[in-house]
Amino acid sequence: MYAELIIKNIGNLITMGEGDKPRAGKEMGEVEIIKDGYIVIKDGRFLEIGSGEIDEIYIGNTTLIKDAMGLTVTPGLIDPHTHLVHGGSRENEFSKKLEGVPYMDILKAGGGILSTVNSTRQASFEELYIKAKKSLDIMLSFGVTTVEAKSGYGLDIETELKQLEVVKKLNEDHPIDLVSTYLGAHAVPPEYIEKKEDFVREIIGALPMIKEKQLAEFCDVFCEEGAFSIEETRKILSAAKKLGFKLKIHADEIVTLGGAELSAELGAVSADHLMAASEKGMEDMADVGVIADILPTTSFNLNKDYACARLMIEKGVAVALSTDYNPGSSPTENLQLAMQLGSLKLKMTPKEVITAVTVNSAYSVDRGKEVGSITKGKRADFVIFDTPNLEYIMYHFGVNHTKDVYKNGIQVVLDGKVIY
Ligand code: NIG
Ligand code: FE
Repeated sequence: MYAELIIKNIGNLITMGEGDKPRAGKEMGEVEIIKDGYIVIKDGRFLEIGSGEIDEIYIGNTTLIKDAMGLTVTPGLIDPHTHLVHGGSRENEFSKKLEGVPYMDILKAGGGILSTVNSTRQASFEELYIKAKKSLDIMLSFGVTTVEAKSGYGLDIETELKQLEVVKKLNEDHPIDLVSTYLGAHAVPPEYIEKKEDFVREIIGALPMIKEKQLAEFCDVFCEEGAFSIEETRKILSAAKKLGFKLKIHADEIVTLGGAELSAELGAVSADHLMAASEKGMEDMADVGVIADILPTTSFNLNKDYACARLMIEKGVAVALSTDYNPGSSPTENLQLAMQLGSLKLKMTPKEVITAVTVNSAYSVDRGKEVGSITKGKRADFVIFDTPNLEYIMYHFGVNHTKDVYKNGIQVVLDGKVIY
């Protein structure tokens, strides 16, 4: 019965309760905060959670007791939308962006996603692995313990598999848990521009092999004018669903195509971006329980409008937040910045924000039964923030507030430094 680890004297302990389902609508803001809290950990999982005196029965000779000195503790943060594995960078397009050249025009001219496709095709497995691992270390230092990672910079089977294999290896080697997504339909490669139907067929044709090799749990499509239409997206995702993939959609990012509506029709786990989503689309998502993954660092970086998070919450949608980390539209691993923009720009309260990056993001990657809340039986992934309360994390923006991070009850960040 003795615990391995006890964290005591937690000023503000944010557990997210039972964490047994995503929190939608106004439930997002109904977050209880335990004062003078403690958590007890055994076998890498939470054994007890409470406040005040800790029961002696948990304390043996080998129990490590750590004093949180009145600081703030939350579940490990979860980033549910990233393009983690890619070659190269795109600072050569930065001045074009500043001059106001639209994101999709850069792509049309062969740059943007296609430029990263070239770099990723050229990069070796080791190069991709080392670069992505560095990003994972940065994410971990920000308090992130679970990350979704997409392919989509190969656009040929060989390179897509190389990206997915890197994700698999990093999942084995790195403390962060990775959830893998096949995004074969991210852009149309130049060699297929005149025969897009063949490309869609090729993407669908790759699905059984990816499933068989267990290289991805989710399938995603960039549904956008200049990328894949509603019809093409429906075709690809319906085929994926039949094979047992869970679904995500890059939906209504720039043009109101009806991606939000399609996510509900197909029963996707999440629809992501949604800056141009219609009200009807939001209502459909609320009805079916599709999670809205909002990516405010992308809006910030592209100088675009922010998604209407308040309206989605009013309509009863469960909102998650993510970095969208990628070399083009959001070159940052900093989920705390996404949280800060979530409050400052999306007008989400700090309680809604912490819901969005813990329990809701856990369900958005289908890990809600294991992580996303400090609940008895769940994995002991948690963060000690060097802040007096939750609000402070959003208020004091642009810096990293993480002090310590634990993954499965093992300390992986100490005083802001990765130590695994
Ligand atoms: O989610 N919008 C499409 N895909 C990514 C960006 C990829 C890139 O620019 O390299 C996104 O923003
Ligand atoms: Fe994305």
